[in-house]
Amino acid sequence: MSTAEHHESNQAEEMIRVDFDDRVMIITLTRPNALNALCKKLIMQLNSALDQAENDTRIGVIVITGAGQAFAAGADISEMKNLTFAEVAEKDFIQPWERLSRCQKPVIAAINGYALGGGCEMAMMCDIIYASETAQFGQPEITIGTMPGAGGTQRLTALVGKSKAMELCLTGRKIPAQEAEAMGLVTRIFAGADLMKETMATAHKIAKFSAPVVRMIKEAVNNVAEVPLVAGIRSERRLFQSTFALEDRKEGMTAFLEKRPAAFKNR
Ligand code: CAA
Repeated sequence: MSTAEHHESNQAEEMIRVDFDDRVMIITLTRPNALNALCKKLIMQLNSALDQAENDTRIGVIVITGAGQAFAAGADISEMKNLTFAEVAEKDFIQPWERLSRCQKPVIAAINGYALGGGCEMAMMCDIIYASETAQFGQPEITIGTMPGAGGTQRLTALVGKSKAMELCLTGRKIPAQEAEAMGLVTRIFAGADLMKETMATAHKIAKFSAPVVRMIKEAVNNVAEVPLVAGIRSERRLFQSTFALEDRKEGMTAFLEKRPAAFKNR
């Protein structure tokens, strides 16, 4: 096979794998040889899997993880190397990455290794971040002459505060999972062998609750970053009141008082 043909066949390659386990969609980034670097094609495939999950009422929760040594080592540097400012501005480069942050269904990131640059930013777009004890996080863009461009300066600062975010973005220092957890970036840490088991246990647990209630809780929590406190509190109260329009709310409270498990119908 010629180099050109080899390149062609790589273009046709699947960059992600999608698996289903009951009401959970598991998206695995499958470019381990490039540490799951986030190339344009991978992001397109990821976005179409997210669209599929959002449109399928059988899916309650999405899990994203990486194959091999990394969750993702950032945007694809070889793809970016020769781009000009005019090109990236004209195409609004990186903008499609934001799709993940607009998911209405909960997304759990299972970080098995490096989550660097765009990989860390992608993790921060998720709702819950579980990490293996050998995972590493960081925003190393400065070391390659650029800066975070998929929300890193904003979401990291919101999660860990200004001085820690500033230090990470200005030095490019990689931090271990333990430090990332202590600073509030990571939700929980597990031994590598337990990461997916624990991730799936949480995913299944959430997916069994009433889907409309899950959606309302996600919306209310996300309001913190988007609206002032008074508006957020008012919106939360309205969302709470809206749960009284659901059969699931009545069922949940009735089941509690009848000392039996609730049977939610997602309506
Ligand atoms: N883009 C493209 N290829 C990458 C990559 C990336 N972000 N990260 C790793 N790779 C490739 C390497 O080029 C290498 O490929 P070859 O085998 O063909 O040479 C392969 O993955 C394995 O990588 P290394 O040999 O470097 O592995 P290592 O174990 O020695 O080091 C690492 C691991 C420290 C994570 C190192 O790969 C690294 O520093 N990667 C780049 C991290 C980075 O700078 N990320 C930020 C990207 S910019 C960005 O993300 C912008 C944004 O905000 C959206």
